[in-house]
Amino acid sequence: MKKTVKDIAVAGKKVLVRCDLNVPQDKETGAITDDTRIRAALPTIQYLLEEGAAVILMSHLGRPKGGADMTFTLKPVADRLEELLAKDVLFLSVPEVVNDDVRKAAAELKAGDVMLLENVRFRPEETKNGAAFSKELADLGDLFVNDAFGTAHRAHSSTAGIADYLPAVSGFLIEKEVKFLGDAVENPERPFLAILGGAKVSDKIPVIENLLNKVDSLIIGGGMSYTFQKALGHEVGKSLLQEEMVPLAKELMAKAEAKGVKLLLPVDVKTIAEFSNDAEIIIVPVDQIPAEREGVDIGPETVKLFREEILKAKTIVWNGPMGVFEMSNFAGGTRGVAEAMVECDGVTIIGGGDSAAAVQQFGLDDKMTHISTGGGASLEFLEGKVLPGVAVLEDK
Ligand code: 3PG
Repeated sequence: MKKTVKDIAVAGKKVLVRCDLNVPQDKETGAITDDTRIRAALPTIQYLLEEGAAVILMSHLGRPKGGADMTFTLKPVADRLEELLAKDVLFLSVPEVVNDDVRKAAAELKAGDVMLLENVRFRPEETKNGAAFSKELADLGDLFVNDAFGTAHRAHSSTAGIADYLPAVSGFLIEKEVKFLGDAVENPERPFLAILGGAKVSDKIPVIENLLNKVDSLIIGGGMSYTFQKALGHEVGKSLLQEEMVPLAKELMAKAEAKGVKLLLPVDVKTIAEFSNDAEIIIVPVDQIPAEREGVDIGPETVKLFREEILKAKTIVWNGPMGVFEMSNFAGGTRGVAEAMVECDGVTIIGGGDSAAAVQQFGLDDKMTHISTGGGASLEFLEGKVLPGVAVLEDK
């Protein structure tokens, strides 16, 4: 167990809080299109302010290349934070992130004040976990709080290196994420079902390997399932296929069998000949995909099959959509899985990224037990990896 903000005295302190405020933005206007991550950061910030701390927030936004690129400024995030906190947020947009002006402003902060630093990735040292930059950040305050679950799988200056110079504890979001994801995997009420989807098998191999040791059943859908179909000897037409992964898919299926894990794959698929939402859909059994067509969603028989398994489960972890859910005509399978999860009376956990976006798109987000704010981070957590941004925090 890691110490949290509740385990240390924060009154009168300047607390550096790393959040994951990496939010999606409209490409043209820069307007924030989903502020979930900003809202998820609020409980820790509000707690610190109420306890009499001054808060210095740090985050990255996007992946700016080669230093400061103002398209990636955190200014829109500062504005949204002001609205959500209903108070001023001091934001000095300097390309160096930390300079004399920032140091002076940080030194002058009073209890209850909030400051947001510019995008930490404006400094190339950030992603290299450069010690000098970690120290520059650390010198601004007295304590480090990591609450950036979505970036906890990165060993960067603001997520990990900074803990070399300051007492380091977790915020409420990291505490919550680690509890839900950790309990689900290590201490699940059974039957424990994992549902994996998404485009590439290669992205999901470590997670499948790890979960095969934990789950009672495993559903594989989405683009990655065609590689498994191929491994079963089925032709997949123009569907997504990672030919080089076919032997590994075979191996994973054999492992599942050896471990007594029930593995469910789609039995029918929606296919199209041209990649467009309006393309003619033909539903075929999974071993009869025509050569010129590609699968874009699971079919109704599969939804039924998966639903039955979902309703039996007491713990479900889901990562990766069942089809091209962003296109309305191919969203049915992913929606079917989400709806079955809502019906299930067990614990339902959604890994971040696409499955979280899908559940939000269907308006079912408040009906799940927990939706992770971390895409890559939740996946690495489910792989059984120790996240560097968590590892650096003090133990209770
Ligand atoms: C994410 O969106 O997954 C996190 O903010 C991490 O971003 P990164 O993949 O650019 O490190």
